[in-house]
Amino acid sequence: MSDEKRIKKIRTQIKHHDELYYQKNKPEISDAEYDRLFSELKKLEKQYPQWITPDSPTQKVGGRLTAKFSPVTHKVPLLSLDSLFEWDDVLAFDQRIKKLIGDRAFEYSCEPKFDGLSVSLVYKDGHFVQAATRGDGSVGENVTENVFQIHTLPKKLKGDYPQELHLRAEVIMTLSGFSELNKKMVQMGEDSFANPRNAASGSLRQLDSKITKERPLDIFIHGLPFHMGPAFSSHWESLDYLDEMGLPTSPLRKKAGTLDQVQKYYEKLNAKRESLDYEIDGIVVKLDDLNLCRELGSKSRSPRYAMAYKFESRKEITLLDDIVVQVGRQGTLTPVALLKPVDVGGVTVSRASLHNLDIIQKLDVKIGDTVRVARAGDVIPEITEVLHEKRSGKEKAFKMPESCPVCHAPVCRESVFYYCTGGYSCLAQLKWSIIHFASKGAMDIDGLGRETVDLLVQKNMIKHSADLYVLTKDDFLNLEGFKEKKAQNLLDALESSKQKPLNRFLYALGMRHVGAENAKILADHYGSVAKLKTATSEELMDIHGIGPEIASSCVEFFSEKKNLALLDDFKKVGVNPIQEVTLKKGIFTGFTFVFTGELKNLSRDQAIEVTNQLGGKITGSVSQKTSYVVVGENPGSKYEKAIKLGVSILDEREFLKIIGKET
Ligand code: IVH
Repeated sequence: MSDEKRIKKIRTQIKHHDELYYQKNKPEISDAEYDRLFSELKKLEKQYPQWITPDSPTQKVGGRLTAKFSPVTHKVPLLSLDSLFEWDDVLAFDQRIKKLIGDRAFEYSCEPKFDGLSVSLVYKDGHFVQAATRGDGSVGENVTENVFQIHTLPKKLKGDYPQELHLRAEVIMTLSGFSELNKKMVQMGEDSFANPRNAASGSLRQLDSKITKERPLDIFIHGLPFHMGPAFSSHWESLDYLDEMGLPTSPLRKKAGTLDQVQKYYEKLNAKRESLDYEIDGIVVKLDDLNLCRELGSKSRSPRYAMAYKFESRKEITLLDDIVVQVGRQGTLTPVALLKPVDVGGVTVSRASLHNLDIIQKLDVKIGDTVRVARAGDVIPEITEVLHEKRSGKEKAFKMPESCPVCHAPVCRESVFYYCTGGYSCLAQLKWSIIHFASKGAMDIDGLGRETVDLLVQKNMIKHSADLYVLTKDDFLNLEGFKEKKAQNLLDALESSKQKPLNRFLYALGMRHVGAENAKILADHYGSVAKLKTATSEELMDIHGIGPEIASSCVEFFSEKKNLALLDDFKKVGVNPIQEVTLKKGIFTGFTFVFTGELKNLSRDQAIEVTNQLGGKITGSVSQKTSYVVVGENPGSKYEKAIKLGVSILDEREFLKIIGKET
């Protein structure tokens, strides 16, 4: 694969995993794997700066928002930290700092890197008044009510507090509390949380703060971005100040005058990690002198004066008993390793996804092998290594089946992926697609859990998701575990799901590559399935945020007879959401914009929002129809294309002038 293709592929993967992580609280890959992807992308972009696009994940600060909580604009944006994995990278970080500040003396402040959920807090006149999640770094979600429930957070400050105080903190779940909570969830028949961080995140994003109150959450404050109190010259002093007001900072922080001390701190904390009742996944090293920090400033995503030096993932050795094949919603066959259960950092691991044949071949793993399993601060385990020297010769190679293990339809291959060709006649695909259709982010059909879907599918009561709406109360009463009330509740939930907005319906349809965010873009643009159905690939790709993969997947979906029949069936049962498409009117009405390169005074999202507010349309690619290409620093190939096509070009200053935000 060419480097350019690889860059694109990693970006798509990162976006996909961001969505799973931030929107659904259900990551599919480990943190370490995610960090690795991110680092690879950064390396490639460094090598090929001409291919950096403003929508690359490296150019953004954090995740997206959900609509559950009201937005809060952070007084000071929440940046991220560069993650380093090798000592050589730490040396390079230190060298860069030394080069920038010359021969002035400095110290580092070292702290644990808490593996939790980042929040900003505000105190006014000594009272806790607001908490928000990080969101996209500039705007987060208002979770004040829920953070209020964390009992270790003082609601009233002690001593000499300033009139206004803004803090950075990490909300974590204790490990002991996490296993108790998961036991309870399983008893109640609910999904358990994959790891303490997801559990913390899920707990903070409850609509009912009484639930949050029951959750074993804790909080550590690690930064003071704004306050109206005395000026500090060092980060360390500012944390002492927070301590004096009764705010919980980490007792494990330590100053380091030399890199040697940084390394010792890292080793000490790595050893201590096992005995802590919360997860840490590395250390954070910050330049302590705040004036020097200001001088060094920040890059688009992260500061130059701080970094996270991550721990190696936890690993244990075990036996790989078997490899089974799971069939997913879109028919993908995923090989899964069944392992002899092993305790990895307090969690029993008995399965690990092997993802695809490519990975099996790269690892050179066989049934019966001795393998090393890692759990990188979280739970999704992965096989990182095969101990080939332990082979007895009796190990068996794994082969992908030629027919689907569930429906026996032939299997087809696309690069390293294998698919079942059975479509909805494959019970596994049908089951997963119905579960997806009913899930929270999609049609949110309360009471239609996995077990019920299993029964409906096994008993042949549904052939596709539209059939759900033809089921009667008697149908449900015939299922095990259903009584009058449960059946009625489910019928009510199905009835009210008919009113769900178009974006949820589009997402629920489960088109390949169309996640919740893309579904929203499509819904806002087209307003109805009828309109979207006739969109061409070119038209779709012209929409900002819709790439070629999504465009062709949409076109393919609407070209298949069985999908058109499904949409007809939905219409017949009263599921046909329509929304108004309103284009704002303003000075940009009738004009189409393309952005390329990095803007200095506006984030990418802000530029898009302003353009939309003023009635302008934004597209992802330059064509004859483009009115203006706005060019920031390090523009990509869109700039060259604009010149070639003679499209008008605006630099950032000119754009700011037009929108009335001249600097
Ligand atoms: S300082 C400007 N200190 O790690 C840098 N962050 O990718 C601000 N985190 O979302 C971060 N422990 O929430 C800092 N001791 C610590 C931390 C910490 C965990 C989180 C933070 C941020 C992420 C950085």
